[in-house]
Amino acid sequence: MAELRRLLAEAGGLPDDPGRQGCRGQRPSVPLQGVLPRHNRPRRKRVRLQSGGPNYTVELGRYDGKISTRNSVMLPHVDDNLDSLNAFFYTLGLSQIDMIALSGAHTLGAADCGFFQHRTKGRDPSMNPSFDAQLQGTCARQNSAFLDDVTPVGFDNSYFQLLQKGRGLLGSDQVLYTDERSRGTVDYYSSNQGTFFYDFSVAMTKLGRVGVKTAVDGEIRRDCRYPN
Ligand code: HEM
Repeated sequence: MAELRRLLAEAGGLPDDPGRQGCRGQRPSVPLQGVLPRHNRPRRKRVRLQSGGPNYTVELGRYDGKISTRNSVMLPHVDDNLDSLNAFFYTLGLSQIDMIALSGAHTLGAADCGFFQHRTKGRDPSMNPSFDAQLQGTCARQNSAFLDDVTPVGFDNSYFQLLQKGRGLLGSDQVLYTDERSRGTVDYYSSNQGTFFYDFSVAMTKLGRVGVKTAVDGEIRRDCRYPN
């Protein structure tokens, strides 16, 4: 986690990094979400080069929302089963394939122990026993663990290979392999990284079209971290 944050900070800062400059008053004709401003673009490119992963064109022109509250955030739950995950993503116009490909974003980063600790100590039979012991040790020392502990700062398909071994960190990760209806896709991505990259790019583009705001119901934030 520290390594990921160090790499991201070095490459231009996390979106909520108070030290990050350059997200003030962008025009609608330039990227408003998902792309850094012009003077930062080379740095963003460096993030991709450092982490690997697919390169795809981000559609531009979204306006920012005028309201941002904790209660308005809708997220899937870490212990959702396949039906619940599918139901959540279907409401966004995304398929099961999209959902599995997007979950592959968990090839990067970390999660707090509170999101997965309840699965350890044999309480979740889908968890590999040695991974269980490893996580108990990790959470005794620190408060988080990598979502993909083989290549935590590399964007690749090892996340799917870990699911095959019962080493998915979150319940919503591991269920993709436990449930036979999604296992075939996990198996496929685990041996076909190129297809995973392609499907991930397609799904990210679809995700970027969800709830697009225009000048009618959105705004261009003076500071991207806060509504005007
Ligand atoms: C399928 C349903 C999903 C669930 C239940 C879920 C849940 C979570 C949780 C609980 C964390 C840890 C947060 C923390 O400890 O603060 C996390 C981290 C992360 N998620 Fe997801 N997520 C899902 C889908 C996605 C999608 C679709 C993406 C992107 C396309 C994504 C990208 C990430 C990344 C990159 C991290 C690491 C963040 C960091 O290290 O700071 N996740 N996710």
